[in-house]
Amino acid sequence: MVNKRKWWQEAVLYQIYPRSFKDSNNDGNGDINGIIEKLDYLKDLGVDGIWLSPIYASPMEDNGYDVSNYFEINPLFGTMEDFDNLLVEAKKRNIKIVMDLVCNHTSIEHEWFKKAISDKNSKYHDFYIFKDQPDDKKSSFGGSAWCYVPELNQYYYHYFDKSQADLNWANPELRKEVANICKFWLDKGCGGFRLDAIELISKDLEKNIIANGPHIHKYLHELNQNAFALYDDVLSVGEGWPTIDICLDYTRPERKELSLIFEFETATLDWNPKEFGKYKPIPVDHSKLKDVIKNWQQGLKDKSWNVVFLENHDLGRSVTRYGNDNKYLSESAKMLGTLLLSLNGTIFLYQGEELGMPNPYFYDLDIYDDVDSKTMYQDVVVKNKLMSHDEFMNGLIKNSRDNARTPMHWDNSINNGFNEGHMPWLHMNEHAKDINVENQQNDDNSVLNYYKKLITLRKGNYKEYFINAEFERIEEKETNEDMFIFKKVINNSAILVILNLGENELEFDNSLINNKEILISNYKNTSAKLRAYEVIIVKE
Ligand code: NOJ
Repeated sequence: MVNKRKWWQEAVLYQIYPRSFKDSNNDGNGDINGIIEKLDYLKDLGVDGIWLSPIYASPMEDNGYDVSNYFEINPLFGTMEDFDNLLVEAKKRNIKIVMDLVCNHTSIEHEWFKKAISDKNSKYHDFYIFKDQPDDKKSSFGGSAWCYVPELNQYYYHYFDKSQADLNWANPELRKEVANICKFWLDKGCGGFRLDAIELISKDLEKNIIANGPHIHKYLHELNQNAFALYDDVLSVGEGWPTIDICLDYTRPERKELSLIFEFETATLDWNPKEFGKYKPIPVDHSKLKDVIKNWQQGLKDKSWNVVFLENHDLGRSVTRYGNDNKYLSESAKMLGTLLLSLNGTIFLYQGEELGMPNPYFYDLDIYDDVDSKTMYQDVVVKNKLMSHDEFMNGLIKNSRDNARTPMHWDNSINNGFNEGHMPWLHMNEHAKDINVENQQNDDNSVLNYYKKLITLRKGNYKEYFINAEFERIEEKETNEDMFIFKKVINNSAILVILNLGENELEFDNSLINNKEILISNYKNTSAKLRAYEVIIVKE
């Protein structure tokens, strides 16, 4: 017997980066009322839920991932009334709102932190991690992970920017506060949380354990029981960088911790594993991509549930990194969309991915806003001279987080409909002139219309094959490393997915598709060869 599924298992979620989505009051920053204006667009696309990047009060050093008050809306984005209205309007359209819970750290503007540094004896001092002498731990944005507080003659730990002080989850009172934050938003009717940097909440810095520390499962189980489990069907999706085994430890339902956890193996295959990571990108190895997808699809089957994504606000655009954003932008964006939407699990799309938005190619360092890009530049290029300016710029062009953060392209009016002409907080992407919602709505052959077909297909009669079927790779039929062929099998029947991950035409065994029902393809007719980025799904 099949257990009744949770709402999020069959869902297509859509991540909104609020500052860049739609600016309703023309101040250069996207806002909540802008999101409300676009709910019909999202409904029409087939979206079931929105993951909203943070909208809480914040000095915006890291665009909201530095929260100064978890119970207030940042005035840049609107008011609590606007937010309540968003919930009402989303509900009318059967769209859930998933909040971003940033609770590994707070802004140093948070009241807790202010109290923590004003008095060593305050209970809030123990909400953070202080040390008399720093060690050599590095922040993931570059530079030391310790920042000096003259008032205390102590250093506080920050895994991210120095404006983001890590919380001390070993303190039970802090953990209670986090559960209360969750309840506040769940009481309002939110559908759940994406939990930022969740693997970091338990650490043992003395032993150099900075992630997945000894008490992580205790803390998450406790949070689950004190908050998520008190409500119906709450989604809790953690941000982490797990192996399959670690992912299962967090998400097997019987453990009552998280519903899901993102895995970043698939989406970061262009990061350099040897040096400088995303800032010294490497070409995506297609053999590896196919193995990684297979391992995750098979590794979680019947034990937990996959999260499927290629883009978010921290990554370069997928069509630039995994496709070809020049000659084959449309074909490769459609191919990547088909790959994603044919996989088992919960789908997360990122704003603009449904248009095939490419990276903006900002060659001028001054255009970048991202605290990670800027701090890392200072550390790697200016201070330590480990990379030249040009080398670093090549990394930024591919993988700066700002690549995904440029304002959304709605139409052909001023600022492409993001607002009514006020300079947006981050430069527009020049491709907005061609690649925008208005143009694509009017073009049957557009990436946007293709995404709509894909989502409709995924939710239609063959739903089970797409969402939760046995993943079988047909390696013996792959004639080239760019060719990816897999089946999604239920009992003795299946859908067959054939993809060309590259731009060279490939020989393929036509009997695989002859006389079969073609469910979707990104080319009009089939041919004897598999053309650039061609994808075909047939029902066997
Ligand atoms: C992960 C978020 O996705 C990223 O944008 C942020 O900078 C860090 N966590 C710190 O909150």
